[in-house]
Amino acid sequence: MDSFELNKILGALLFTCLLTLTLNITAGAVFAPHQPAKPGFEIAVPESDAAAAGGGAAPAEEKKSVAELLASADPKKGEAAVKKCASCHNFAKGGPNGIGPNLYGVVGRAKGSHAGFNYSDAMKAKGGNWTFEDIDHFITNPKAFIPGTKMTYAGDAKGTDRANILAYLNQNSDSPQPLPKVAESKPAEGAGGDKPAAGGDKPAAAPEKKQ
Ligand code: HEC
Repeated sequence: MDSFELNKILGALLFTCLLTLTLNITAGAVFAPHQPAKPGFEIAVPESDAAAAGGGAAPAEEKKSVAELLASADPKKGEAAVKKCASCHNFAKGGPNGIGPNLYGVVGRAKGSHAGFNYSDAMKAKGGNWTFEDIDHFITNPKAFIPGTKMTYAGDAKGTDRANILAYLNQNSDSPQPLPKVAESKPAEGAGGDKPAAGGDKPAAAPEKKQ
């Protein structure tokens, strides 16, 4: 009797496990990322205004520029954060393409240029090199930056997180790019100068300013 009871309990447990496993596999199949040849819908958002004008609820942090966020970014944290990209992207030098292209040295590289990867027409048509800003826009909302892209990643809304990722991507390269300068309120005083510095030692500007 006792062992029969035990069998029933074990049986129930086993059944539960099997059910969970089945659910897991089914869910995996249903929600697996797959790219239609032509995306069903495109949301055209003007690139630069996307963050500002769009969602409305842009958190305060988003107001910081990429340059500002990068200044305090941590590539180590970025390396951990790109785990969420790793289902599609390989980051090793000379590593393979996956669902997405290999991303070693992607900062500064021409868009849609990695050998052997079949990019979407939209990506190929985008043109230019991957700057920090462009990658930032792209991974904030891939389909807003490049309508028609094959990258089905939903986007990363957290600016500090993206900056860490950018810092890591830049480091993970043969030729890391100089970080963008933080555009401060200082309007580059002596630099521009409306007069060529011919006057030499005469303090030209200051007296004229007097009224
Ligand atoms: C679901 C799969 C998937 C995930 C997750 C994903 N990507 Fe992508 N990614 C792609 C695909 C596919 C492309 C090619 C897009 C195209 O051709 O339109 C791509 C392209 C890119 C490119 C352009 C590369 C080039 O050579 O021009 C960058 C940069 C990029 N991804 C960064 C990221 C980052 C960073 C993450 C994580 C935060 C990420 N991706 C997550 C699938 C993915």
